[in-house]
Amino acid sequence: STPSLLILPGDGIGPEVMTEVRKIIDWFGAKRDLAFDVTEDLVGGAAYDAHGAPLSDETMEKAQQADAVLLGAVGGPKYDVLDFSLKPERGLLRLRKEMDLYANLRPAQCFDALADFSSLKRDVVAGLDIMIVRELTSGSYFGEPRGIFTEGNERVGINTQRYTESEIARVARSAFELAKRRGNKVCSMEKANVMESGVLWREVVQKVHDEEYPDVELSHMYADAGGMQLCRWPKQFDVIVTDNLFGDLLSDVAAMLTGSLGMLPSASLGAPMANGRPKALYEPVHGSAPDIAGQGKANPIACILSFAMALRYSFDEGAEADRLEKAVESVLADGKRTADLMQAEGGTPVSTSEMGDAIVAALDAS
Ligand code: NAI
Ligand code: MG
Repeated sequence: STPSLLILPGDGIGPEVMTEVRKIIDWFGAKRDLAFDVTEDLVGGAAYDAHGAPLSDETMEKAQQADAVLLGAVGGPKYDVLDFSLKPERGLLRLRKEMDLYANLRPAQCFDALADFSSLKRDVVAGLDIMIVRELTSGSYFGEPRGIFTEGNERVGINTQRYTESEIARVARSAFELAKRRGNKVCSMEKANVMESGVLWREVVQKVHDEEYPDVELSHMYADAGGMQLCRWPKQFDVIVTDNLFGDLLSDVAAMLTGSLGMLPSASLGAPMANGRPKALYEPVHGSAPDIAGQGKANPIACILSFAMALRYSFDEGAEADRLEKAVESVLADGKRTADLMQAEGGTPVSTSEMGDAIVAALDAS
Protein backbone atom coordinates (compact mmCIF):
# COMPACT_ATOMS: atom_id res chain seq x y z
CA SER A 1 0.00 0.00 0.00
CA THR A 2 1.00 3.65 -0.41
CA PRO A 3 3.38 4.71 2.40
CA SER A 4 2.05 7.42 4.67
CA LEU A 5 3.83 10.65 5.54
CA LEU A 6 2.63 13.06 8.22
CA ILE A 7 3.82 16.62 7.62
CA LEU A 8 3.97 19.06 10.53
CA PRO A 9 5.20 22.45 9.21
CA GLY A 10 5.04 24.20 12.62
CA ASP A 11 6.00 27.85 13.10
CA GLY A 12 8.15 30.65 11.68
CA ILE A 13 10.14 29.46 8.66
CA GLY A 14 8.82 25.90 9.18
CA PRO A 15 5.84 26.35 6.80
CA GLU A 16 8.04 28.27 4.32
CA VAL A 17 10.63 25.52 3.95
CA MET A 18 7.92 22.83 3.99
CA THR A 19 6.23 24.45 0.96
CA GLU A 20 9.45 23.73 -0.96
CA VAL A 21 9.55 20.13 0.31
CA ARG A 22 6.00 19.67 -0.98
CA LYS A 23 7.22 20.61 -4.48
CA ILE A 24 9.85 17.85 -4.20
CA ILE A 25 7.34 15.29 -2.90
CA ASP A 26 4.99 16.16 -5.78
CA TRP A 27 7.85 15.75 -8.25
CA PHE A 28 8.63 12.22 -6.99
CA GLY A 29 4.93 11.36 -7.27
CA ALA A 30 4.58 12.69 -10.82
CA LYS A 31 7.96 11.76 -12.32
CA ARG A 32 9.17 8.72 -10.39
CA ASP A 33 5.83 7.10 -9.62
CA LEU A 34 6.71 7.35 -5.94
CA ALA A 35 3.44 8.28 -4.28
CA PHE A 36 2.98 9.11 -0.62
CA ASP A 37 -0.23 9.37 1.31
CA VAL A 38 0.48 12.86 2.72
CA THR A 39 -1.41 14.34 5.67
CA GLU A 40 -0.65 17.78 7.05
CA ASP A 41 -1.29 18.84 10.63
CA LEU A 42 -0.36 21.39 13.29
CA VAL A 43 2.44 21.39 15.86
CA GLY A 44 3.98 23.97 18.18
CA GLY A 45 2.63 27.51 18.37
CA ALA A 46 0.36 26.89 15.38
CA ALA A 47 -1.29 24.01 17.26
CA TYR A 48 -1.52 26.09 20.43
CA ASP A 49 -3.30 28.87 18.51
CA ALA A 50 -5.80 26.37 17.09
CA HIS A 51 -6.34 23.95 20.00
CA GLY A 52 -4.73 25.50 23.09
CA ALA A 53 -2.05 22.76 23.19
CA PRO A 54 1.25 22.43 21.27
CA LEU A 55 0.27 18.94 20.04
CA SER A 56 -3.26 17.55 20.12
CA ASP A 57 -3.97 13.92 21.08
CA GLU A 58 -5.36 13.43 17.60
CA THR A 59 -2.13 14.60 15.94
CA MET A 60 -0.11 12.44 18.35
CA GLU A 61 -2.14 9.41 17.26
CA LYS A 62 -1.59 10.25 13.56
CA ALA A 63 2.15 10.43 14.23
CA GLN A 64 2.08 6.99 15.88
CA GLN A 65 0.35 5.54 12.81
CA ALA A 66 2.40 7.28 10.09
CA ASP A 67 5.22 5.51 8.27
CA ALA A 68 7.25 8.69 8.77
CA VAL A 69 6.77 12.18 10.23
CA LEU A 70 8.43 15.25 8.69
CA LEU A 71 8.55 18.37 10.90
CA GLY A 72 9.55 21.95 10.03
CA ALA A 73 10.29 23.91 13.19
CA VAL A 74 8.49 25.13 16.29
CA GLY A 75 8.65 28.22 18.50
CA GLY A 76 8.65 31.97 18.34
CA PRO A 77 8.75 35.08 20.55
CA LYS A 78 4.94 35.24 20.57
CA TYR A 79 4.88 32.10 22.73
CA ASP A 80 7.62 33.03 25.21
CA VAL A 81 5.03 34.12 27.79
CA LEU A 82 3.27 30.71 27.86
CA ASP A 83 3.49 28.24 30.71
CA PHE A 84 6.24 25.64 30.33
CA SER A 85 3.70 22.88 29.60
CA LEU A 86 2.13 24.87 26.74
CA LYS A 87 5.32 26.02 25.02
CA PRO A 88 5.75 25.04 21.34
CA GLU A 89 8.84 22.95 22.17
CA ARG A 90 6.65 20.67 24.32
CA GLY A 91 4.90 19.51 21.15
CA LEU A 92 8.17 18.29 19.73
CA LEU A 93 9.24 16.74 23.04
CA ARG A 94 5.93 14.87 23.27
CA LEU A 95 6.44 13.41 19.79
CA ARG A 96 9.98 12.26 20.64
CA LYS A 97 8.95 10.80 23.99
CA GLU A 98 5.73 8.99 23.03
CA MET A 99 7.22 7.59 19.82
CA ASP A 100 10.22 6.49 21.95
CA LEU A 101 12.75 7.80 19.43
CA TYR A 102 15.99 6.56 20.94
CA ALA A 103 18.37 6.96 17.98
CA ASN A 104 19.14 10.51 16.88
CA LEU A 105 20.79 10.68 13.45
CA ARG A 106 22.89 13.70 12.61
CA PRO A 107 24.65 13.48 9.25
CA ALA A 108 27.65 15.65 8.53
CA GLN A 109 27.67 16.02 4.80
CA CYS A 110 29.78 18.55 2.97
CA PHE A 111 28.88 19.51 -0.56
CA ASP A 112 31.92 20.41 -2.60
CA ALA A 113 30.51 23.84 -3.51
CA LEU A 114 30.30 24.78 0.18
CA ALA A 115 33.60 23.32 1.40
CA ASP A 116 34.98 26.80 2.03
CA PHE A 117 32.29 27.34 4.67
CA SER A 118 33.93 24.80 6.94
CA SER A 119 36.19 25.80 9.77
CA LEU A 120 38.58 23.14 8.46
CA LYS A 121 40.70 22.96 5.31
CA ARG A 122 38.83 22.25 2.07
CA ASP A 123 40.44 18.86 1.38
CA VAL A 124 39.63 17.64 4.89
CA VAL A 125 35.88 18.18 4.41
CA ALA A 126 35.05 18.33 0.66
CA GLY A 127 32.79 15.38 -0.16
CA LEU A 128 32.47 14.38 3.51
CA ASP A 129 29.46 12.15 4.26
CA ILE A 130 29.34 10.68 7.77
CA MET A 131 26.50 9.90 10.17
CA ILE A 132 26.51 10.31 13.94
CA VAL A 133 24.00 8.16 15.81
CA ARG A 134 23.40 9.57 19.28
CA GLU A 135 21.45 7.63 21.92
CA LEU A 136 18.66 10.04 22.86
CA THR A 137 16.51 8.66 25.67
CA SER A 138 18.90 7.47 28.39
CA GLY A 139 22.37 8.08 29.85
CA SER A 140 23.51 10.96 32.02
CA TYR A 141 20.67 13.34 31.05
CA PHE A 142 18.10 10.94 32.55
CA GLY A 143 19.89 8.55 34.97
CA GLU A 144 18.92 8.44 38.64
CA PRO A 145 19.97 9.54 41.19
CA ARG A 146 20.10 13.11 39.97
CA GLY A 147 19.75 16.40 41.79
CA ILE A 148 21.54 18.89 44.00
CA PHE A 149 21.93 17.44 47.49
CA THR A 150 23.46 18.62 50.74
CA GLU A 151 26.46 16.61 51.91
CA GLY A 152 27.99 17.79 55.21
CA ASN A 153 28.35 21.55 54.96
CA GLU A 154 28.21 21.90 51.19
CA ARG A 155 26.02 20.96 48.26
CA VAL A 156 26.76 18.34 45.62
CA GLY A 157 25.37 18.19 42.09
CA ILE A 158 24.74 14.66 40.84
CA ASN A 159 23.94 13.09 37.50
CA THR A 160 24.18 9.39 36.79
CA GLN A 161 25.46 7.84 33.59
CA ARG A 162 23.34 4.71 33.39
CA TYR A 163 22.75 2.35 30.47
CA THR A 164 21.02 -1.03 30.39
CA GLU A 165 22.14 -3.74 27.99
CA SER A 166 18.88 -3.46 26.02
CA GLU A 167 19.22 0.32 25.67
CA ILE A 168 22.71 -0.12 24.24
CA ALA A 169 21.72 -3.04 22.00
CA ARG A 170 18.79 -1.25 20.34
CA VAL A 171 20.75 1.87 19.40
CA ALA A 172 23.61 -0.35 18.21
CA ARG A 173 21.14 -2.15 15.92
CA SER A 174 19.99 1.20 14.52
CA ALA A 175 23.61 2.06 13.72
CA PHE A 176 24.33 -1.29 12.04
CA GLU A 177 21.12 -1.08 9.99
CA LEU A 178 22.13 2.40 8.77
CA ALA A 179 25.64 1.25 7.97
CA LYS A 180 24.23 -1.48 5.70
CA ARG A 181 22.54 1.27 3.63
CA ARG A 182 25.73 3.37 3.56
CA GLY A 183 29.43 2.53 3.78
CA ASN A 184 29.03 -0.64 5.91
CA LYS A 185 31.29 0.67 8.68
CA VAL A 186 30.49 1.53 12.32
CA CYS A 187 32.78 3.18 14.89
CA SER A 188 31.47 3.01 18.46
CA MET A 189 32.67 5.69 20.87
CA GLU A 190 32.69 5.62 24.70
CA LYS A 191 35.19 5.93 27.52
CA ALA A 192 35.65 2.30 28.50
CA ASN A 193 39.03 3.24 29.96
CA VAL A 194 37.43 5.23 32.81
CA MET A 195 33.67 4.48 32.88
CA GLU A 196 31.77 1.29 33.78
CA SER A 197 28.94 2.27 31.44
CA GLY A 198 31.58 2.52 28.72
CA VAL A 199 32.85 -1.01 29.44
CA LEU A 200 29.31 -2.36 29.12
CA TRP A 201 28.65 -0.22 26.02
CA ARG A 202 31.68 -1.64 24.22
CA GLU A 203 30.85 -5.24 25.21
CA VAL A 204 27.20 -5.01 24.09
CA VAL A 205 27.95 -3.26 20.79
CA GLN A 206 30.54 -5.94 20.02
CA LYS A 207 28.06 -8.73 20.90
CA VAL A 208 25.27 -7.28 18.70
CA HIS A 209 27.82 -7.02 15.91
CA ASP A 210 29.15 -10.58 16.26
CA GLU A 211 25.71 -12.18 16.53
CA GLU A 212 23.63 -10.08 14.12
CA TYR A 213 25.86 -7.95 11.87
CA PRO A 214 29.17 -9.80 11.39
CA ASP A 215 29.52 -8.39 7.85
CA VAL A 216 29.57 -4.75 8.98
CA GLU A 217 33.06 -3.48 9.83
CA LEU A 218 33.15 -2.44 13.53
CA SER A 219 35.77 -0.46 15.43
CA HIS A 220 35.84 1.09 18.91
CA MET A 221 37.35 4.42 19.89
CA TYR A 222 37.55 6.44 23.10
CA ALA A 223 35.21 9.41 22.68
CA ASP A 224 37.89 12.04 23.39
CA ALA A 225 40.15 10.55 20.73
CA GLY A 226 37.08 10.40 18.50
CA GLY A 227 36.59 14.15 18.83
CA MET A 228 40.21 14.63 17.78
CA GLN A 229 39.86 12.30 14.81
CA LEU A 230 36.65 14.06 13.68
CA CYS A 231 38.64 17.27 13.30
CA ARG A 232 41.80 15.65 11.95
CA TRP A 233 40.43 13.36 9.24
CA PRO A 234 36.62 12.95 9.41
CA LYS A 235 36.47 10.97 6.15
CA GLN A 236 37.82 7.90 8.00
CA PHE A 237 34.30 7.43 9.46
CA ASP A 238 31.00 6.20 8.03
CA VAL A 239 28.60 5.68 10.96
CA ILE A 240 29.57 6.71 14.51
CA VAL A 241 27.42 5.39 17.36
CA THR A 242 27.70 6.90 20.82
CA ASP A 243 25.78 7.72 23.99
CA ASN A 244 23.60 10.73 24.74
CA LEU A 245 26.22 12.99 26.33
CA PHE A 246 29.15 12.24 24.00
CA GLY A 247 26.75 12.31 21.04
CA ASP A 248 25.54 15.78 22.00
CA LEU A 249 29.13 17.06 21.90
CA LEU A 250 30.37 15.10 18.90
CA SER A 251 27.37 15.95 16.70
CA ASP A 252 27.87 19.67 17.33
CA VAL A 253 31.55 19.32 16.43
CA ALA A 254 30.60 17.42 13.28
CA ALA A 255 28.00 20.06 12.34
CA MET A 256 30.71 22.70 12.27
CA LEU A 257 32.71 20.65 9.79
CA THR A 258 30.08 21.48 7.19
CA GLY A 259 28.95 25.06 7.72
CA SER A 260 25.47 26.60 7.65
CA LEU A 261 22.58 25.67 9.94
CA GLY A 262 20.33 25.99 6.89
CA MET A 263 21.93 22.87 5.39
CA LEU A 264 21.69 20.38 8.28
CA PRO A 265 19.05 17.61 8.31
CA SER A 266 18.37 15.13 11.11
CA ALA A 267 16.25 12.13 12.00
CA SER A 268 15.15 10.41 15.18
CA LEU A 269 14.34 6.72 14.94
CA GLY A 270 12.61 4.30 17.30
CA ALA A 271 11.72 0.63 17.34
CA PRO A 272 10.65 -1.17 14.15
CA MET A 273 6.87 -1.14 13.56
CA ALA A 274 4.82 -4.13 12.38
CA ASN A 275 5.73 -3.32 8.75
CA GLY A 276 9.44 -3.39 9.58
CA ARG A 277 9.91 0.38 9.23
CA PRO A 278 11.31 2.18 12.29
CA LYS A 279 9.19 4.81 14.02
CA ALA A 280 10.68 7.95 12.52
CA LEU A 281 10.67 11.73 12.82
CA TYR A 282 12.66 13.77 10.28
CA GLU A 283 13.43 17.45 10.84
CA PRO A 284 15.99 20.13 10.04
CA VAL A 285 18.44 20.90 12.87
CA HIS A 286 17.54 24.60 12.74
CA GLY A 287 14.66 26.29 14.60
CA SER A 288 11.87 28.61 13.46
CA ALA A 289 14.25 31.55 12.76
CA PRO A 290 11.82 34.37 13.69
CA ASP A 291 14.45 36.92 12.60
CA ILE A 292 13.99 35.97 8.93
CA ALA A 293 10.48 34.44 8.94
CA GLY A 294 8.06 35.71 6.29
CA GLN A 295 10.78 37.28 4.14
CA GLY A 296 11.53 34.50 1.66
CA LYS A 297 15.07 34.26 3.03
CA ALA A 298 15.01 30.80 4.63
CA ASN A 299 17.17 28.08 3.15
CA PRO A 300 14.89 25.09 2.47
CA ILE A 301 17.78 22.63 1.93
CA ALA A 302 17.97 21.33 5.55
CA CYS A 303 14.31 20.32 5.34
CA ILE A 304 14.66 18.94 1.80
CA LEU A 305 17.65 16.82 2.90
CA SER A 306 15.56 15.62 5.87
CA PHE A 307 13.07 14.30 3.32
CA ALA A 308 15.98 12.65 1.47
CA MET A 309 16.82 10.87 4.74
CA ALA A 310 13.19 9.70 4.96
CA LEU A 311 13.46 8.30 1.43
CA ARG A 312 16.58 6.38 2.39
CA TYR A 313 15.87 5.22 5.94
CA SER A 314 12.05 4.88 6.10
CA PHE A 315 11.12 4.03 2.54
CA ASP A 316 14.17 2.10 1.34
CA GLU A 317 14.51 4.40 -1.67
CA GLY A 318 18.26 4.93 -1.44
CA ALA A 319 18.68 5.54 -5.17
CA GLU A 320 15.98 8.24 -5.12
CA ALA A 321 17.58 9.80 -2.02
CA ASP A 322 20.88 9.90 -3.96
CA ARG A 323 19.04 11.53 -6.87
CA LEU A 324 17.66 14.27 -4.59
CA GLU A 325 21.03 14.90 -2.90
CA LYS A 326 22.71 15.12 -6.31
CA ALA A 327 20.08 17.66 -7.41
CA VAL A 328 20.86 19.78 -4.33
CA GLU A 329 24.57 19.45 -5.05
CA SER A 330 24.18 20.55 -8.68
CA VAL A 331 22.13 23.62 -7.72
CA LEU A 332 24.86 24.61 -5.25
CA ALA A 333 27.57 23.93 -7.84
CA ASP A 334 25.60 26.24 -10.14
CA GLY A 335 26.17 29.03 -7.62
CA LYS A 336 22.60 29.41 -6.37
CA ARG A 337 22.71 30.71 -2.78
CA THR A 338 20.08 31.62 -0.21
CA ALA A 339 21.09 34.54 2.03
CA ASP A 340 22.65 32.33 4.73
CA LEU A 341 25.12 30.95 2.15
CA MET A 342 26.17 34.27 0.65
CA GLN A 343 29.18 35.20 2.75
CA ALA A 344 31.67 32.71 1.29
CA GLU A 345 32.29 33.52 -2.36
CA GLY A 346 30.17 34.97 -5.18
CA GLY A 347 27.09 33.16 -6.32
CA THR A 348 23.58 34.08 -7.39
CA PRO A 349 21.26 35.14 -4.56
CA VAL A 350 17.96 33.23 -4.57
CA SER A 351 14.84 33.25 -2.40
CA THR A 352 13.38 30.26 -0.56
CA SER A 353 10.97 29.43 -3.38
CA GLU A 354 13.58 30.02 -6.11
CA MET A 355 15.85 27.51 -4.35
CA GLY A 356 12.99 24.96 -4.26
CA ASP A 357 12.23 25.55 -7.95
CA ALA A 358 15.90 25.21 -8.89
CA ILE A 359 16.10 21.84 -7.11
CA VAL A 360 12.97 20.65 -8.91
CA ALA A 361 14.52 21.78 -12.22
CA ALA A 362 17.71 19.87 -11.35
CA LEU A 363 15.59 16.78 -10.61
CA ASP A 364 13.96 17.19 -14.02
CA ALA A 365 17.40 17.22 -15.59
CA SER A 366 18.53 14.12 -13.66
P1 NAI B 1 17.25 29.12 14.85
O1 NAI B 1 17.84 27.88 14.34
O2 NAI B 1 15.80 29.33 14.60
O3 NAI B 1 18.05 30.36 14.22
C1 NAI B 1 19.44 30.62 14.46
C2 NAI B 1 20.01 31.53 13.35
O4 NAI B 1 20.16 30.77 12.15
C3 NAI B 1 19.08 32.69 13.01
O5 NAI B 1 19.87 33.82 12.71
C4 NAI B 1 18.35 32.21 11.78
O6 NAI B 1 17.92 33.25 10.93
C5 NAI B 1 19.38 31.31 11.10
N1 NAI B 1 18.72 30.19 10.40
C6 NAI B 1 18.14 29.11 10.96
N2 NAI B 1 17.62 28.31 10.03
C7 NAI B 1 17.86 28.89 8.84
C8 NAI B 1 17.55 28.56 7.49
N3 NAI B 1 16.87 27.44 7.16
N4 NAI B 1 17.92 29.40 6.51
C9 NAI B 1 18.59 30.53 6.80
N5 NAI B 1 18.93 30.91 8.05
C10 NAI B 1 18.56 30.11 9.06
O7 NAI B 1 17.56 29.18 16.42
P2 NAI B 1 17.11 30.29 17.51
O8 NAI B 1 17.15 31.64 16.90
O9 NAI B 1 17.94 30.00 18.69
O10 NAI B 1 15.60 29.93 17.90
C11 NAI B 1 14.47 30.51 17.28
C12 NAI B 1 13.21 29.76 17.73
O11 NAI B 1 13.26 28.42 17.26
C13 NAI B 1 13.07 29.67 19.25
O12 NAI B 1 11.70 29.78 19.57
C14 NAI B 1 13.57 28.28 19.57
O13 NAI B 1 12.99 27.76 20.72
C15 NAI B 1 13.10 27.52 18.35
N6 NAI B 1 13.90 26.31 18.04
C16 NAI B 1 13.20 25.24 17.54
C17 NAI B 1 13.87 24.09 17.17
C18 NAI B 1 13.07 23.01 16.53
O14 NAI B 1 11.93 23.23 16.14
N7 NAI B 1 13.63 21.84 16.40
C19 NAI B 1 15.33 23.96 17.32
C20 NAI B 1 15.97 25.17 17.78
C21 NAI B 1 15.27 26.28 18.15
MG1 MG C 1 23.77 20.14 21.62
